[in-house]
Amino acid sequence: MSSNRTFTMIKPDAVNAGNIGNILQMINEAGFKIVAMKYTRLSKQDAQAFYAVHSARPFFGELVEFMISGTIVAAILEKDNAVADFRTLIGATNPAEAAEGTIRKAYASSIGENAVHGSDSDENAAIEGAFHFAGREIY
Ligand code: CMP
Repeated sequence: MSSNRTFTMIKPDAVNAGNIGNILQMINEAGFKIVAMKYTRLSKQDAQAFYAVHSARPFFGELVEFMISGTIVAAILEKDNAVADFRTLIGATNPAEAAEGTIRKAYASSIGENAVHGSDSDENAAIEGAFHFAGREIY
């Protein structure tokens, strides 16, 4: 995956609250092209593997349980400077610190249930995109 792509998940809290459409609209209006997308649910094994980098953190168990608690939307997004621009669009991990106009300011309720995921580097965007999508599912 090239550096103009990032990976996102709309998390179970935002799906349950009926915010898939609103969040996709914000993503589109910010100039991202969706090049892969699926509605799915993570198994416990999936969530533990996806978030393995956080396995030593005290919130790891809570994070995994939350991420398997419901359906998610996974997507690969394309735009110049995708990783950094998408992190600006989603806002701070803790919604109490998220700027006005960001997705987490609008739709996240807590640091754990924070509506969306966004890759933190080009390298992780490639790893995370490949975790969810086969090459033939990416357009
Ligand atoms: P995300 O961007 O998906 O990447 C790691 C996730 O861990 C993060 O969003 C939060 O949802 C979660 N997280 C980070 N810090 C905490 C915390 N202190 N308590 C609970 N969850 C957290």
